[in-house]
Amino acid sequence: MNFAQPTSSAHLDVAAIATALGELSTRFDVRVLAECDSSNARLMALAEAGAPAGSVVVAERQLAGRGRRGNSWFSSPDASLTFSLLWRFSPQVQLTGLSLAVGVALARALERLGIAGIALKWPNDVLLQGGKLAGVLIELVPGARPSAAVIGVGINLLLPPELPAEIRQNAAALANAGITLPAPATLLARLLAELHGVLHSFAAEGFSAWHAAWQERHAYAGQVVRLLADHAAPLEGRCLGVDGDGALLLETASGIQRIISGEVSLRKS
Ligand code: BTN
Repeated sequence: MNFAQPTSSAHLDVAAIATALGELSTRFDVRVLAECDSSNARLMALAEAGAPAGSVVVAERQLAGRGRRGNSWFSSPDASLTFSLLWRFSPQVQLTGLSLAVGVALARALERLGIAGIALKWPNDVLLQGGKLAGVLIELVPGARPSAAVIGVGINLLLPPELPAEIRQNAAALANAGITLPAPATLLARLLAELHGVLHSFAAEGFSAWHAAWQERHAYAGQVVRLLADHAAPLEGRCLGVDGDGALLLETASGIQRIISGEVSLRKS
């Protein structure tokens, strides 16, 4: 494990992360930044310079955190756990479904902490009792061979007062999960350990190994939803789940539609 801590005000304890990871600590190269633009952006630069799989950037505060569909992602110390993990895959691995497998890993880690009410919303949200607890933003390293993915994860630890009302109304936080939370370093280690296992199997078998686990946690199974895209009319249908490639299956008036683009947003009708 790399103990690089470029700014002295960072207070996530990297030694504690190493201890909590145990033997797995040799598989990760963790940097903790007290502040940066975006942990995904920082890790992307490291990836382009040849950083190995298992490189992690943890940001206690992001000034330009990136979310899906060009949104920004709010994160501040104590209120969120914000990190990015680099993973490399051989060229034949089909990366559709990666964000779903990552969701399964996060869900399993949280469930193992004793948290009930975790569900997954296609393509990459983790919900707690219906509210958005965590988001995942996967960015592929341009031109990387073998392919490389920067897997960005933001988890709400609590909902700070300054959080805009429109975000707060659909959000959830671990502070309200009904358990005594472990220290952030332990929480991070639990998440990384689960991601390590899931990503290894994803690299070998693709999403199909995690298909059933995703379906079991599908937040909108059998429910009528609307799919919103930027330049198309909303599509309404009953959510059948995902197929073995991670595409969303929607039963609409004109038959079953297979949705592969993640650049959409899903709402309950
Ligand atoms: C979403 O829009 O739901 C995805 C949000 C992903 C946010 C995380 S926070 C860590 C990583 N760094 C970023 O800039 N974004 C991701």
